Amino acid sequence: MKIIAVMNQKGGVGKTMTSAAIAYILGEEMKNRVLIADADQQGNVSMLYGVYDPEGLGMPELLEAHQAAGGAYSTKELIQQTTYSNIQIIPANGYLMRTNAELLLVEREDQILRFSAAMNEVRTKYDYCIVDCGLLLDMTVMNVLAAADLVIVPAKIGGFEIGAINNMVEQLETFRDFNEDIRMKVLLTMKQKNKTTLQVESWMRDKESYECFETAVRRSVVAEKSTMERAPLPAFSRNCAATKDYRAVCQELIKEL
Ligand SMILES: Nc1ncnc2c1ncn2[C@@H]1O[C@H](COP(=O)(O)OP(=O)(O)OP(=O)(O)O)[C@@H](O)[C@H]1O
Ligand SMILES: [Mg+2]
Repeated sequence: MKIIAVMNQKGGVGKTMTSAAIAYILGEEMKNRVLIADADQQGNVSMLYGVYDPEGLGMPELLEAHQAAGGAYSTKELIQQTTYSNIQIIPANGYLMRTNAELLLVEREDQILRFSAAMNEVRTKYDYCIVDCGLLLDMTVMNVLAAADLVIVPAKIGGFEIGAINNMVEQLETFRDFNEDIRMKVLLTMKQKNKTTLQVESWMRDKESYECFETAVRRSVVAEKSTMERAPLPAFSRNCAATKDYRAVCQELIKEL
C-alpha cells in the first residue's frame, strides 16, 4: 500500500477536491483497492463520501486509542464502507482537536508514529491510502507525514502560494529523521486561461526546489457544484475539464509509484 498525503498549509487550495477525486479514480474507475483517511477535523472528505458523523468513530480513535498504542481499537473496526465498492474510509470529525491536544501531552516516542503503526495492520489490504490533511501542521498531520510515501501539495496558481510551497519543502526536510524517503510534488490547481496565470504557472514550474505534476487542474464551475452537492467530482461529472485533469494526474501517480 502506498500512502499519499494531500497537504498544504494554505486553506481552500483544493486539498479535499484532490483527495476525493484521485481516490475515486484510482478506486471506482481503475479498480484499485483504496482507503481514504480523513486527517482534517472539518471532515470534508468524509462529507463528500457520505459518512460524516459528528459523534462517530474514526481518525480520533485511530490516533488516540489504537491497539498498537495500548488502546482498544483495531484499524479494521474504524474503517467504513462507502457507496463505492473499492473505496473505504476512516472518517474524521471535530474530536480530532482533542486528539491533537492529547498527543501533544503524551511525551512518548510513538506520538507521531501512531498513524504509521495503525496502517501496518492493513498494508496488504489496499493498494493506495489517500489522506486529506487539514491546513495546520498539527499532531495529526505530523503522524500522516511520518507515514507518507508521497505528499501532493495542491497550489492555486499565483498569490501567496509560493511562500506556502517553500514552507512545505523546509518542513518535509525536518521530517526525514522519521521518514527518510518522503517525497513531495506540487499540483497546480484551479488553473485559468489568461496570460498572467500562464506566466505565473511557468514561473512556478521553473523553481528548482520542488517538482510539479505535468498536469495542472483547470478551474471549472462543475467542480464547485460537486462540492455543493457533496459528491466526489468524477462521480458528479465524468467528463468536465477538471475530472479529465485528475485522470491525467492519476496516470502520472501510477507511473511514479
Ligand atoms: N478545479 C477547481 N475548479 C473550481 N473550483 C474548485 C476546483 N478545485 C476546488 N474548487 C473549489 O474550491 C473550494 C476549496 O476547495 P477544497 O475544499 O478542495 O480546498 P481545501 O484546500 O481542502 O480547503 P481547506 O483548507 O478548507 O481544507 C471548494 O469550494 C471547491 O469546490
Ligand atoms: Mg479540505
